[in-house]
Amino acid sequence: MTDLTKSGILNALKKVDDSSFNKDLLILNSIKKFEVKDNQLIVDVSLTMPSSSNVDGLENKFKETLKKEFSQFKKIQVNIDAKVTTHQDQKINSILPGVKNTIAVASGKGGVGKSTVAVNLAVALAKDGASVGLIDADIYGPSIPLMLGLKEKPKVYQDQQSMKIIPLVNYGIKVISIGLLVDDNAPVIWRGPMASGAVKQFMTDVDWGELDYLIFDLPPGTGDIQLTLVQTIPLTGAVIVTTPQEVSLIDARKALKMFTRVNVPVLGVIENMSYFIAPDTGNKYDIFGTGGGSKIAVELDTPFLGGIPIDPRIRIGGDKGIPIVYDTPDSEHAKIVTEISRNFAEQVHIRNLKGDSASKMEILLDDEN
Ligand SMILES: Nc1ncnc2c1ncn2[C@@H]1O[C@H](COP(=O)(O)OP(=O)(O)OP(=O)(O)O)[C@@H](O)[C@H]1O
Ligand SMILES: [Mg+2]
Repeated sequence: MTDLTKSGILNALKKVDDSSFNKDLLILNSIKKFEVKDNQLIVDVSLTMPSSSNVDGLENKFKETLKKEFSQFKKIQVNIDAKVTTHQDQKINSILPGVKNTIAVASGKGGVGKSTVAVNLAVALAKDGASVGLIDADIYGPSIPLMLGLKEKPKVYQDQQSMKIIPLVNYGIKVISIGLLVDDNAPVIWRGPMASGAVKQFMTDVDWGELDYLIFDLPPGTGDIQLTLVQTIPLTGAVIVTTPQEVSLIDARKALKMFTRVNVPVLGVIENMSYFIAPDTGNKYDIFGTGGGSKIAVELDTPFLGGIPIDPRIRIGGDKGIPIVYDTPDSEHAKIVTEISRNFAEQVHIRNLKGDSASKMEILLDDEN
């Protein structure tokens, strides 16, 4: 039986098995109220990330721990709700009024799997209950329509001030891409400023509505489009995708430095094509080397969000327009991507907190306690 002192309560709450949420701090930060009323214990938890799929499990974990720690109470009630926190820079309001967080998915080197990661991250977040938008900012090589199986042209309507484009919706996410607006086979032969203009328009002229996360799938490198993006809106942060091999890491460092130079926080590094498990033998092969992503994360003092193995199903899913987190949700790969998406959501939340501490929990005890 735990004493009802502040430190006793905090220590008891720390024992809640929060492995799916990783950090003590977040769970503690999420507990809004610890109340004792009429011999009943009531705990209010407000999760600060999309986690609808986890709420039931978490409620049970809380109850289990609380029953053990506070056996003096006959009844224990746990109320959980989930709400994504908002990036604190208000400038975003004028351009994307309903969007809580804007995220760039970037890499230095091309072909490392940014678009694949952006799509699967977006779908995983949406599956967890978040409202998510995805902007294909790769104007010269849009691949999102193919990866999400989108073909039709977005509809346009006239609002009071201007024309608005309605994003397409698939797998629970809203999507816009230049590939949906111009003919499939017509190459986009535009000058840099026009490409940048298109990305700007995706922010200003698309009816995004209310979103927890708006994700930008960037072209490789650190060119005009990247600069336009960081100059137009205050991004919540950037995620850097790299493969483990040195040539990719060199470029990842450059991308990371570009973002930090313009004061965009880097939320973490995702390593793609980390290893390959041969389906016939189960042997593991480090095709592009090993440990590069976590090494660079340490070197550049940014979190390592996780590593995604090579799997033909990921490529096939991309080509077929069915993301793996949707197609085979129970596969190891889908689990890894989901885990990464939760690590990511956690990092967004940590940035948005800006130093708020765990001490916000309200403790209400009745007269007898
Ligand atoms: N983990 C993976 N396993 C298997 N195939 C993958 C994996 N990640 C990406 N691919 C495949 O590799 C190719 C390149 O991926 P993708 O288009 O996502 O890279 P990118 O970084 O966005 O490229 P670009 O720089 O051209 O925008 C795609 O065919 C994709 O399906
Ligand atoms: Mg791409």
